[in-house]
Amino acid sequence: MHRRPDLYPEPHLFRPQRFIEREYNSYEYISFGGGARRCLGIHFAFYEMKIVLAYILLHFQLKLYSNKPISPVRRGVTFCLVEAYQW
Ligand code: HEM
Repeated sequence: MHRRPDLYPEPHLFRPQRFIEREYNSYEYISFGGGARRCLGIHFAFYEMKIVLAYILLHFQLKLYSNKPISPVRRGVTFCLVEAYQW
C-alpha cells in the first residue's frame, strides 16, 4: 500500500512533508498493518513515541513548516491547530 506511486509519489523517498500536503485515510495509511496480523506493539510504540516527543520538546527549539496563519479547529470532542487554508 505505502509503495503505490499513485498514492505516494516517489514512494521510496523519505518525504515526511507528504503528510502535510495530503491527508491519507485509514485505507491508504496502514502503518501498523491490519486484520489478524495487526501490530501487537502498537500501544507500546505510541508510548515510546510520546517519550521521544517529550525529549524533543525539552531539548530542541521547533519552528513552523510554513508561515501561514494557524487556527483552532474542532475535531470530534477535541481541538487541534491547522493552517487557516484548511477551513
Ligand atoms: C512505530 C512502531 C511500529 C510500527 C510502525 C509497527 C508496524 C507493524 C506492522 C505493519 C505489522 C504487521 C506486519 C504484517 O502484516 O505482517 C506489525 C506486526 C507486529 N508488530 Fe509492530 N510496529 C511497531 C512497533 C512494534 C513494537 C514496539 C512491538 C513490540 C514491542 C511490535 C510488535 C509486533 C509484533 C509481535 C507483530 C506481529 C503480529 C502478528 O503477526 O500477529 N511492533 N508491526
